[in-house]
Amino acid sequence: MSESGSTVPNNLEAFWMPFTANRQFKSEPRLFVAAKDMHYVMADGRKVLDATAGLWCVNAGHCRPRITEAIRQQAGELDYAPAFQMGHPKAFELAARLAAIAPADLDHVFFTNSGSESVDTALKIALAYHRAKGEGTHTRLIGRERAYHGVNFGGMSVGGIVGNRKMFGTLLSGVDHMRHTHDPARNSFTRGELEHGADLAEDLTRLIALHDASTIAAVIVEPVSGSTGVLPPPKGYLKRLRDICDQHGILLIFDEVITGYGRVGAAFAAERFGVVPDIMVTAKGLTNGVIPMGAVFVRGSIYDAFMQGPENLIEFAHGYTYSGNPIAAAAGLATLETYREEGLFERARSIEALWADALHSLKGAPKVVDIRTIGLIGAVELEPIPGAPAKRAFSAFLKALEKGLLIRTTGDIIAFSPPLIVTEGQIGEIVDILSDVLADID
Ligand SMILES: Cc1ncc(COP(=O)(O)O)c(C=O)c1O
Repeated sequence: MSESGSTVPNNLEAFWMPFTANRQFKSEPRLFVAAKDMHYVMADGRKVLDATAGLWCVNAGHCRPRITEAIRQQAGELDYAPAFQMGHPKAFELAARLAAIAPADLDHVFFTNSGSESVDTALKIALAYHRAKGEGTHTRLIGRERAYHGVNFGGMSVGGIVGNRKMFGTLLSGVDHMRHTHDPARNSFTRGELEHGADLAEDLTRLIALHDASTIAAVIVEPVSGSTGVLPPPKGYLKRLRDICDQHGILLIFDEVITGYGRVGAAFAAERFGVVPDIMVTAKGLTNGVIPMGAVFVRGSIYDAFMQGPENLIEFAHGYTYSGNPIAAAAGLATLETYREEGLFERARSIEALWADALHSLKGAPKVVDIRTIGLIGAVELEPIPGAPAKRAFSAFLKALEKGLLIRTTGDIIAFSPPLIVTEGQIGEIVDILSDVLADID
């Protein structure tokens, strides 16, 4: 609240909003002032059902008491501890708890403050790992078209969303991209992994033939692409990437910033799809989105490769002032405890079919050209208005908000990722409102 007691600020100009149409927003502001469980409250008092877990991050729902209390307590006990050459117990405890829920030997954790920092950290680990092993020619990074890996220079370079890349010059050199896996002619109205497209993993073989494996450090993919509009993997695709990487001494990185922490009905997509990467990038759901934090998991053999040379020397010249910050660590511990206590990862899996049935019931609704679901993620793709890409979905976003539903759009795709506590009734509400919205927009 401002000094006047109003919840509405009277000057919106100074804040340059991220990934936002600033002028449109400032002419018709949309302000959240409170949240609880599945709902936001807007400045005019209206309740809005959150079908996007904030920005794919509030997996346990809003303002959960255990997490709020842990943050409150930690802030009064140890607010900050230097992250370099000093430590505090909760960062170690959180890393150990994370290692315990991660698949296989992904048992060492490097803390960051966001998904973007986690991606860049993973890429740096991959490059430095090969150098530490005496394989310094492995410097090339391979991403994929349509990928989103955050907005820092490494992530942008391996990313494949043209609108996020074209404004920023030449980006990192020595990066190449595999073809994306979106193939609506072969896969449409899909549930779970796609029937067709495992063959697209062979595109990595093409790039290896072009560049030679000895020049490639790592391949990074989202197990399910999120921000580009929800693209589940074709059956067998991730396993094939794993095999090709193994065959050629290339590290495989999974960007699980969206898929981690229960979103696909398992702790991580690596577990759900039965494919273990060498490095796993996470953030968002790690702290339920409440405090910025990211975590990069690496296999023991990668950590060990760095633990060489004189013991008084820093092994990896990388880190952030807030790596493993005490309040973030406390939030992370309380979040993991909430997930465990309420069985939220299992819950996501158990309501996946219901979620898919509900969203797929929109097949045949006006303007809908495709629907894709996996875990508690979904996408409803709309036919674009000719000559006005993204306009129809943005109208749907505004109309849905008016009707009390928060959705997210990317291009003409509506993406859903409700908190894992969503009830059957609320799933019905999401679909009913969306159905009204589709009937209402041009
Ligand atoms: C797959 C993926 N990687 C990285 C990021 C970047 O995360 P952040 O916005 O926390 O930097 C995102 C954000 O949506 C993401 O979806």
